[in-house]
Amino acid sequence: METVVSGIRSTGQLHLGNYFGALRNFIKMQDENQCYFFIADLHALTTHPDPKMLHTNVKDVLTEYLAAGMDPEKSAIYIQSDIHEIPELYLLMNMHAYMGELAKTTSFKEKARKQPNNVNAGLLTYPTLMAVDIIIHKANKVPVGKDQEQHLEMTRTFARRFNNFYGVEYFPEPTAYNFGENLIKIPGLDGSGKMGKSEGNCIYLSDDPKTIEKKVKKALTDQGPTAPNSVKPDYIENLFTILKVVSTPDVVDYYEEKWNTCEIRYGDLKKQLAADIIKVTTPIRERILAIQGDDAYLHKVATEGAEKARESAAKTLKEVREIMGFKAF
Ligand code: TRP
Repeated sequence: METVVSGIRSTGQLHLGNYFGALRNFIKMQDENQCYFFIADLHALTTHPDPKMLHTNVKDVLTEYLAAGMDPEKSAIYIQSDIHEIPELYLLMNMHAYMGELAKTTSFKEKARKQPNNVNAGLLTYPTLMAVDIIIHKANKVPVGKDQEQHLEMTRTFARRFNNFYGVEYFPEPTAYNFGENLIKIPGLDGSGKMGKSEGNCIYLSDDPKTIEKKVKKALTDQGPTAPNSVKPDYIENLFTILKVVSTPDVVDYYEEKWNTCEIRYGDLKKQLAADIIKVTTPIRERILAIQGDDAYLHKVATEGAEKARESAAKTLKEVREIMGFKAF
């Protein structure tokens, strides 16, 4: 049995990108592995959320985890900030994380460009905190989307560096996991590369069918191909990418064929795409509505999850402190 850790930053409701990039795989891994799934609310602080929204966002993500099929009987489901061992190990690991490697991380450079007035030290050390989330349970597998590949690489570097520095075989080197498929990146509906809240091009798991139809209808298209077998422009390729994850292969083949013969009707493609997205999201949305507001249930899940996570985290922290030379008087 392997140990799995993963989480999603709580910056608002989850969208299709979160679902296909990560959440769907969390659910699939629960039976075969020892899983720790958390809500990364400390990571959410890097963009300075409104304190009034912090808890609401955590609550939304917890509700959506459960609605998507996460099972508190099988997995430890917890809120990152409930586990105080995480910030302590983060401090210790930061002593072995170097300015240069942190500053050249793609996500850091991107965020520094997007929020030039808030290039805080938490952004810089985001990869250390993420590595700690993972190694604190000595995890081997981390189900994540393609955008997290570099962070995983850094996690392995930090784990290996700790082992080498202290001459121990302590932390495993975890790898990104996606059931043997390529890591997934879900594009936005506006022709941009990535579905994201800040991009405003999202379909949320909680969107009702009418909203989904409207959003898909508005997706960027053009007059259609003018020559057979043309290369698709990005914004069309993006629609096919989403179609591939929500529809059956014969549906995808049908529209590929129509594209290649210049007979594609975007109206039909969009109707099909919306219908298939709705098929995926409807059962989740119904469970969101059922769980939403059941504060007693959410409290129970978060409390029991934190207990399980704390047990494993405390053990690691104790051992790490010993390895590093801390001793009790
Ligand atoms: N950085 C991840 C994201 O933005 C969230 C995250 C934080 C995470 N800690 C993690 C993912 C540990 C996997 C494992 O989606």
